[in-house]
Amino acid sequence: MTELDFNPLAGARPVGETARILNALREEHRAFRSTFGRGFWVLTRHEDITAAFQDPELFSSSAVNALDPEPRYRWIPEMLDPPEHTAWRRLLRPHFTPAAVREREERIREHCASLIAGISRTGHCDFVTDFATPFPSVIFLELMGLPVERLETFLTWERAILHGPPTANAERVAAMGQVTAMFAELIELRRAEPGDDLVSHALTWRLDGEPIPEQDLLDLCLLLFMAGLDTVTSQLSYAFWHLAAHPEDQKALREDPGLIPAAVEELMRAYSIVLPGRKLTRDAEVAGCPMKAGETVMLPLASANRDPRAFADPEKVDLRREHNRHLGFATGPHRCLGSHLARTEMRIALEEWHRAVPAWRLSPDREALEHAYGLMGLDTLPLVWEV
Ligand code: HEM
Repeated sequence: MTELDFNPLAGARPVGETARILNALREEHRAFRSTFGRGFWVLTRHEDITAAFQDPELFSSSAVNALDPEPRYRWIPEMLDPPEHTAWRRLLRPHFTPAAVREREERIREHCASLIAGISRTGHCDFVTDFATPFPSVIFLELMGLPVERLETFLTWERAILHGPPTANAERVAAMGQVTAMFAELIELRRAEPGDDLVSHALTWRLDGEPIPEQDLLDLCLLLFMAGLDTVTSQLSYAFWHLAAHPEDQKALREDPGLIPAAVEELMRAYSIVLPGRKLTRDAEVAGCPMKAGETVMLPLASANRDPRAFADPEKVDLRREHNRHLGFATGPHRCLGSHLARTEMRIALEEWHRAVPAWRLSPDREALEHAYGLMGLDTLPLVWEV
């Protein structure tokens, strides 16, 4: 068993650095124990990470951040195990099917095109602030029935929860409290006057014949808030960073928009943003390591998705890659519920951006940096183009 002082957290690293660190670790260790923080295991290979996601009986979701083995919160459905989890997925599924997303597609495209129209004439933008943040966030707020004009406040809370350094626990818990209080108000409003949003629908659900307890509804809203507000923003930022740095790939998408769906998958494979965790329910030998009940395990998607045992030439971003079994949305019972929505948003962003913005590149003035907490992302992405 190897012990390493592996610290996965970072406030500002050159883009791609976290993936490079994970690449090197994977090729030396199939699994190892990090002594950082309270200590946690790390699996590095596609095969072992897939098996862990698919075995909730051993790898419980009662802790989904390997650095926090005793969480004081319970996000629904992400932190539930089957069979409780299965009942929640059944309730949520109809709102996230491909057909449900298709119904929103026109609105998604209209919002996307109008944001781009405001940017394209300027010849420059900060892609994260000006596009990747407002684009999916507004769509998500509409889905939830939340006021779009409060987006800035919501983002401040969301960043305190997901982007704060590990020392900022008080701030994190306080922000979760603010999100929960805001949803409690919204639930009251929707009880009085239901709309066609997810919160209104959730108020009509039954579990074992009973209405959903208020605390469970709040735990669901909190999880959706985090899953919906930051993920597409981060994924889009990496995708556009790659395309800005690789004009040949940008040109290929511009000339053949039919490539875009495959490109979305490949960009998700090459730039995987989530660092999920699990908690062991019993002692077991996993990937040759003696793991104990109660210990946590990190399952870094960025490591699985660049594993040469699973992908030919994994360091190459090949927009035409076939049989792309990437784990960007994880796998097993907790596989991302929002994957159809996320894919649609990313496809439409690439289509509309290429239609309206001529060849763009990274601004030479400022380097783009990535952060890595439970989720990896870019704080800024300055882009320039000719007008
Ligand atoms: C590109 C963007 C996205 C990525 C990369 C992503 C990734 C993931 C991953 C890896 C998980 C599994 C976590 C785990 O196993 O612990 C997950 C779960 C989840 N995601 Fe996403 N996600 C994205 C967008 C979204 C969106 C837009 C929504 C909703 C609006 C969403 C809703 C959810 C929910 C509800 C879960 C929990 C599912 C469960 O526990 O059964 N995601 N996501």
